[in-house]
Amino acid sequence: MSRLLVQGGKALDGEVDIHGAKNSTLPILAATILTGGETVLQNCPKLRDVEVSIRILQYLGCSAGWDGDALVVNTKDMNRHHISDGLMREMRSSSIFLGAILARCGKANLSYPGGCELGPRPIDMHLAGLRQLGATITETGGRLDCETAGLTGRTLVLRLPSVGATENLMIAACGATGTTTILNAAREPEIVDLQNYLLCCGARMTGAGTSTIIIEGKAPLHDCTYACMSDRIVAATYLCAVASAGGRIYLKGAKEEHLSTVIALLREAGCQITSQSQGIVCRAQGRLQSVQGVKTAPYPGFPTDAQAVVMAALLKSCGATMLEENLFENRFRHVDELKRMGADIQVSGRVAVVTGVEMLHGASVEATDLRGGAALCVAGLGAQGDTWVSGLDHIDRGYESIERDLCALGGEVTRI
Ligand code: EPU
Repeated sequence: MSRLLVQGGKALDGEVDIHGAKNSTLPILAATILTGGETVLQNCPKLRDVEVSIRILQYLGCSAGWDGDALVVNTKDMNRHHISDGLMREMRSSSIFLGAILARCGKANLSYPGGCELGPRPIDMHLAGLRQLGATITETGGRLDCETAGLTGRTLVLRLPSVGATENLMIAACGATGTTTILNAAREPEIVDLQNYLLCCGARMTGAGTSTIIIEGKAPLHDCTYACMSDRIVAATYLCAVASAGGRIYLKGAKEEHLSTVIALLREAGCQITSQSQGIVCRAQGRLQSVQGVKTAPYPGFPTDAQAVVMAALLKSCGATMLEENLFENRFRHVDELKRMGADIQVSGRVAVVTGVEMLHGASVEATDLRGGAALCVAGLGAQGDTWVSGLDHIDRGYESIERDLCALGGEVTRI
């Protein structure tokens, strides 16, 4: 079993290209099913979750494979409408295939994604929306059996601006007759990226990035070549890495408009961050200051996916900072591991208070989820001595090669 050795205590100095965004690539790969043709996806990250999506597409009878850095998918010969339990369990976001398979085949059969990483992750809004579009859905023994004689556009009101439900319903609505309006839609940049992909294939829709998305269904779709947006959470992770270790880094492809809340927080803490035409430069020196407080919220609020890495960046700050996690119940699992490195963190319910310490020390720690695992690397870079990080399967779900990137940024990180 591999581990990462992070040799901390040295300032960073380097630059890196930010790879494509996992959280827009995954719904785009599901949406390729609608086109019944070829998609060439550029800037597609080579990650574990993307590999699982490729295997799901292949299981469904589609072809999907790498041509250099592009992923080429052809869904013309799709011949199955069900996904095996084993594949569903490998990736929590596999439920995003539901709307696409249903819209293409009129039926879909898959199980709830397995496990529980961040706490309960229900898909009730996905199912309610599909039912309103005309699907009959029965649930037996953890499997969902969905059928429709034809989806029909409707006005759908989401209880919460769920990213996954918005994506699933946008995709399904492309195959519905008439107009679908999604109200209280999620506004994340990845939703805009999904819309841009669908527009590139010939779909008719407007509004992604706002709370109201309007989709005119049944537009004829065609082949397309599309480049995914860069991954804003990977960029946030590396900004936090330099905030933790000090130094200067350049993140090519990172966009300030996607990271405004994270950048505002790091500036308040004392980092100097400037946007350039192609990317972002961040400089940090000495101990950071504590900040007013962090409350995670749906976009454009502070991203839950950046909570753990920001916490790691603040461990040596002067003063105390409160972090409130409002999206997921179980997203402080990195705290006990960070404490092994000398961090002072108190958790009560959905609130964690980080009181900065003068020094962190290396330790053996275990990643128990994706962003929590990245946070251990961020903390390790700012700690004196060696940090060994295990549980790399989690980190590899969302970072092409975290050690390659951190080394390019001047860190000493080795996979052993
Ligand atoms: N929710 C429901 N019912 C639903 C759907 C969601 O109650 O039908 C609740 C969830 O339990 C959660 C909240 O709504 O409390 C938000 O969940 P959302 O559906 O927005 O999240 P998601 O689509 O499951 C995506 C990202 C996550 C990211 C969240 C929030 C992907 C593949 N995943 O998940 O990314 O944390 O949005 O921004 O896009 C990660 O990359 O590490 C990651 C976990």
